[in-house]
Amino acid sequence: MLKNYSPTHTEAWKKLQAHFEQVKPKHLREMFAEDPKRFEKFTYKVEDTLYDLSKNRITTETIKLLTQLAEEMELPAAIESMFRGEKINATEGRAVLHTALRNFTDEKLEVEGENALQEVRDVLQQMKVFCDKLHSGEWKGYTGKPINHVVNIGIGGSHLGPQMVTEALKKFQKPNIELSFISNVDGTDAAEVLRKLNPETTLFIIASKTFTTKETLANAHTSRDWFLEKAGEKEHIKKHFVALSTNTEAVEEFGIAPENTFRFWDWVGGRYSLWSAIGLSIAAAIGYEKFEELLKGAEAMDKHFRKAPLHQNVPVLMGLLSIWYTNFFGCETHAVLPYDQYLRLLPEYLQQLLMESNGKSASRNGDEINYQTQPVIWGAAGTNGQHSFFQLIHQGTILIPCDFIAPVVSNNPIGQHHPMLLSNFFAQTEALMKGKTKEEVEQELRQKGNLSDDEISELAPHKVFEGNKPTTSIMPHQVTPFSLGSLIAMYEHKTFVQGVIWNIYSFDQWGVELGKQLAGKIEEELLSGKQAEHDSSTAGLIAYYNKNRTK
Ligand code: F6P
Repeated sequence: MLKNYSPTHTEAWKKLQAHFEQVKPKHLREMFAEDPKRFEKFTYKVEDTLYDLSKNRITTETIKLLTQLAEEMELPAAIESMFRGEKINATEGRAVLHTALRNFTDEKLEVEGENALQEVRDVLQQMKVFCDKLHSGEWKGYTGKPINHVVNIGIGGSHLGPQMVTEALKKFQKPNIELSFISNVDGTDAAEVLRKLNPETTLFIIASKTFTTKETLANAHTSRDWFLEKAGEKEHIKKHFVALSTNTEAVEEFGIAPENTFRFWDWVGGRYSLWSAIGLSIAAAIGYEKFEELLKGAEAMDKHFRKAPLHQNVPVLMGLLSIWYTNFFGCETHAVLPYDQYLRLLPEYLQQLLMESNGKSASRNGDEINYQTQPVIWGAAGTNGQHSFFQLIHQGTILIPCDFIAPVVSNNPIGQHHPMLLSNFFAQTEALMKGKTKEEVEQELRQKGNLSDDEISELAPHKVFEGNKPTTSIMPHQVTPFSLGSLIAMYEHKTFVQGVIWNIYSFDQWGVELGKQLAGKIEEELLSGKQAEHDSSTAGLIAYYNKNRTK
């Protein structure tokens, strides 16, 4: 079990506060000048991915104190508790075992009296058989034609992971399968996907852990109605609808046959579920073998996380860095900047992973905590971001730590595009680190020779870059299923590390409930036309909508 203890009461926290006062005024430029071995010192390799932490505002002492904090917060024991399947998701009374979904060892892992690893393998086998049939054309639609379009209907963890991964691995996609996603309850999402489908050759995957999520059920019913309108007979459903869920009863009630149901377990959190049956759309897109490579990449990161000493453990260091910036520097946001077009959905995926996991303000014993937890995660693919929000990262008033991610080798080596892309990747982290002093700016302007001294001193302050902006550079050799699996698992474990240090529960998401409850009540009001009591704003908006909706 995870203990309840405020990180602010540790010895390390106090030492970190004092240490912060020493590090804060130091410029990264000085740190690099003072220590030519800084890159070697703060660079780590896990499998074929390099993690360069050297452009962060840290010293060896920072790492020492942060790992001391991790020790005092009993992180090593917490890691073991998770891997062993203890019920560390205490507010839901569940184990947290996404790592079991990619555990290919001979270990025994008993959960609720069942051999979890065997159950996982049984479902993987079911997924393999399904994919083989799909890709060989053996799985046929109601008119005897093979399936060529798979539509994943799900939301949150039942959408973002599969969508991000299939986009990231598009280069590995099977040529005979197209993939679409319907997630939003806004009818536009379903309408725009359905209008391009042929019911004879489309297979719908209804992905919902609980099978109670309103958005997913609405989209599933709409798609089923659309299908039946064209196909006629209800018995055709079994050739065109499969479900991924822990709630097999609700799936059956919806009309999906048990043999078309791919199950998983309540010890898999929604935002940690892409490795489970929820990954069926991934396996359908890239083939079962490649899906297994994704799992193996994650397994390699799991082994590193479980065994590497804290000061060399990449997810631990990444989590601790986040504590350093959030709780000592006071940073409120963190940018994720993939320099790889295929990884462009990674920031969106990480928003759910990190913000739904660690956006909490109650400690493990229920007290309101008095320090900051999860920063806002945001970002976009480079180089596009450079032409929109990078201005603020370089010259704005807030400090934004950034993860820059770029593969050494491109999956599309066209002309000189990749060296051009990577020159931007290297240049940005260098510019953010070094900045440009007033003297440098003035000298540069003087060299141009077309400005007076007055003009130079007027213009110079606007061209100064403070620098000293922290970045982490992550370089997989290439974006492959294996390296992607490892990268995602790294972020999952980073999330866990943060939660352990912040003394919060990372695996529940009660914060999404209130909105859901109220939406349920208001939906009834909208459908019945009987308005209940609300504050004046909500009542006014509902009345405005009711008055104008038929106009
Ligand atoms: O947004 C809340 C949430 O419960 C997420 O945690 C989850 O990933 C998503 O809804 C979808 O849930 P389900 O897979 O049960 O439909």
